[in-house]
Amino acid sequence: MSRFPRFLGPSGLPEPSGTRLTERLVLKPIGPEYADDLWHLHRDPGVARWYGGTWSRGEAWESALYMERAWAHEGVHKWIAHGRESGELVGRGGLSYAEVDGARRLEIGWAVRERFWGLGYASEIGRAGLALAFGDLGAVEVASFTEIHNLRSRAVMERLGFHYAREFRHRGEPFVLYLFTRP
Ligand SMILES: CC(C)(COP(=O)(O)OP(=O)(O)OC[C@H]1O[C@@H](n2cnc3c(N)ncnc32)[C@H](O)[C@@H]1OP(=O)(O)O)[C@@H](O)C(=O)NCCC(=O)NCCS
Repeated sequence: MSRFPRFLGPSGLPEPSGTRLTERLVLKPIGPEYADDLWHLHRDPGVARWYGGTWSRGEAWESALYMERAWAHEGVHKWIAHGRESGELVGRGGLSYAEVDGARRLEIGWAVRERFWGLGYASEIGRAGLALAFGDLGAVEVASFTEIHNLRSRAVMERLGFHYAREFRHRGEPFVLYLFTRP
């Protein structure tokens, strides 16, 4: 079996319009229709702690609009993640192009509501992102970075098979860079 999942709907056909199905999640490209979900996600204490506090509705809206534009112009950005069965908001994550340690890179990230930590959801989003990167996008490398002391996020990177590259400064703070080269 391939290391990364393929994205097929229940009918066995590819899911339309960028929607991806994983074992337990539905992943959809973020646009303004998910601004409210983003707002809720960034009110979650576990998430807010790592993003400089809660977001206002306006910030969530701006962010959702930005992501919609990035999906349109760059072909990829973050997904919103809901439970396949429950429909509940689980988190967000996936790929985007960003300036990381002095280079423009395809990077991957994740944020999950605290009540869903410890269940493998971030890893599931991460595996979907890597499959997209090395599949449809034809990437040769994916980066991931986080604050040096964000041990939970570093653990996701290591679980997914990223290797530690180096420490670097990001917006004046110490961050770590992990890389995953095309298998
Ligand atoms: C970073 C973050 C997404 C990690 O979430 P997480 O739930 O710890 O990560 P995973 O989804 O990989 O889950 C791993 C845990 O689930 C367990 N697990 C259960 N089922 C699993 C499965 N099917 N697959 C993988 N892990 C599974 C693992 O054993 C591990 O348990 P542990 O925490 O006791 O070691 C989360 O802490 C978060 O949202 N933080 C705030 C936002 C943030 O910091 N984002 C990163 C910014 S760079």
